[in-house]
Amino acid sequence: MTEPAGTPPRKKLLIRTWGCQMNVYDSARMADVLAPLGYAPTEDAAEADMVVLNTCHIREKASEKVFSDLGRLRDTKQRRAAAGKDTVIAVAGCVAQAEGAEITARAPWVDMVLGPQTYHRLPEMVARLSRAAGQVIETDFPAEAKFDHLPEASAPQGPIAFLTVQEGCDKFCSFCVVPYTRGAEFSRPAAAVIAEARRLAGQGAREIALLGQNVNAYHGEGPDGRVWGLRRLLRALAEIPGVARLRYSTSHPRDMDDDLIAAHGEIPALLPFMHLPVQTGSDRMLRAMNRGHDAALFRRIVDRLRAVRPDMALSSDFIIGHPGESLRDFEDTMALVRDTGFALAYSFKYSARPGTPAAGLPGQVPEAEKDARLQALQALLREQQQAFNADCVGRDCDVLITGPGRYPGQLAGRSPWLQPVHLFGNEFLPGDIVRVRLSAALTNSLSATLAHQEPAPA
Ligand code: SAH
Ligand code: SF4
Ligand code: F3S
Repeated sequence: MTEPAGTPPRKKLLIRTWGCQMNVYDSARMADVLAPLGYAPTEDAAEADMVVLNTCHIREKASEKVFSDLGRLRDTKQRRAAAGKDTVIAVAGCVAQAEGAEITARAPWVDMVLGPQTYHRLPEMVARLSRAAGQVIETDFPAEAKFDHLPEASAPQGPIAFLTVQEGCDKFCSFCVVPYTRGAEFSRPAAAVIAEARRLAGQGAREIALLGQNVNAYHGEGPDGRVWGLRRLLRALAEIPGVARLRYSTSHPRDMDDDLIAAHGEIPALLPFMHLPVQTGSDRMLRAMNRGHDAALFRRIVDRLRAVRPDMALSSDFIIGHPGESLRDFEDTMALVRDTGFALAYSFKYSARPGTPAAGLPGQVPEAEKDARLQALQALLREQQQAFNADCVGRDCDVLITGPGRYPGQLAGRSPWLQPVHLFGNEFLPGDIVRVRLSAALTNSLSATLAHQEPAPA
């Protein structure tokens, strides 16, 4: 069969993604950028004409994985070369931004290194690569905004879709690489966000998760020429036909103002779930981390959120063993966790990152001590998560169907508190929102029965 004139050659693209949801979004956008060049997705490295590693620099372990993966890819590339096939290997994301020079030196078989702000230039980079041998490197922060140069067309994401509205960070927490890898804070204009949300809804998205490293610092240009905050943006998005559920992450306590908190009482589409990293419950450590708030502010925000939305579930991030953390500081963290009650939380041992202020601080906490504290914290957080899930049993709620379940006739979905939910009901399709009663809490999910199957109350 002959190909129609102008059809780009068919090639296979493998993208591996580490790190945060923003990287997941970026990977999808890179696939969109490369699709017009003839690249179709594959999961198999052996058949990939191009492999993109979209990397994360946040902790040491995350960055190390890149180099071990690159070692394996060198072998794959050699095997394919022996069979007469070229393989383009690209390293993208935050390790590329932070360690571009090290990557090209340690892994000369890498063809491209591109930072998070340059992936709209991928087609041009591919063209440059085919013209000249050697490595193509793009890790500047370009003057033109990436979002203005991405294609409108995007592959459908399904009933739950991610949408980046804000990127970068100006907060410079002592421990964190993000301000260096993602650059300065930037908000997309509201009109561009609304247009993308409309497209997502048109492709079947019912829940849209707005993304940003500091998403609640959003201050984009509004269609009316004024600066819009997140509350205004959320209100506009909630009006889009088809958009039934909205959430946003990640927020910083400093930007969680009364205006935004009020939005949770007035926009029904906003899910009763908030990811609000606090990192530590110790005021001394919050100061050392340059977080710009104290534990009391975090407690006040939680109280106010629960006042406007009583079913609000809280999620957070914690860092254990930041330089200078004493047992007393750690106990303050445990107390804050006990008092708040989290539905979900992520906790990490502090990892010293090159170039960040905390890496050079005295009082680095010994590894064994970090381990012991982390275990104690995680045991408490696990207990709280189980208690939260158990407490949900018996509640009626709307579940968004995301796809088939594990067993025939079973469906998988998400509760308003983002828990995976399983139920039986052949009549529903992905994207449907179904009223259920949560009936049992399992380790990592809940099961539910259709509300209309429940016996009527006597
Ligand atoms: N913008 C978000 C967090 C982005 S990074 C915020 O301000 O909270 C995601 C999480 O990784 C952080 O919340 C923190 O808990 C963790 N993290 C960041 N740097 C780290 C480091 N050097 N060591 C361990 N954990 C870290
Ligand atoms: Fe990192 Fe702090 Fe910025 Fe979050 S607010 S991305 S932790 S510097
Ligand atoms: Fe990692 Fe970069 Fe996200 S460092 S957490 S991929 S912003």
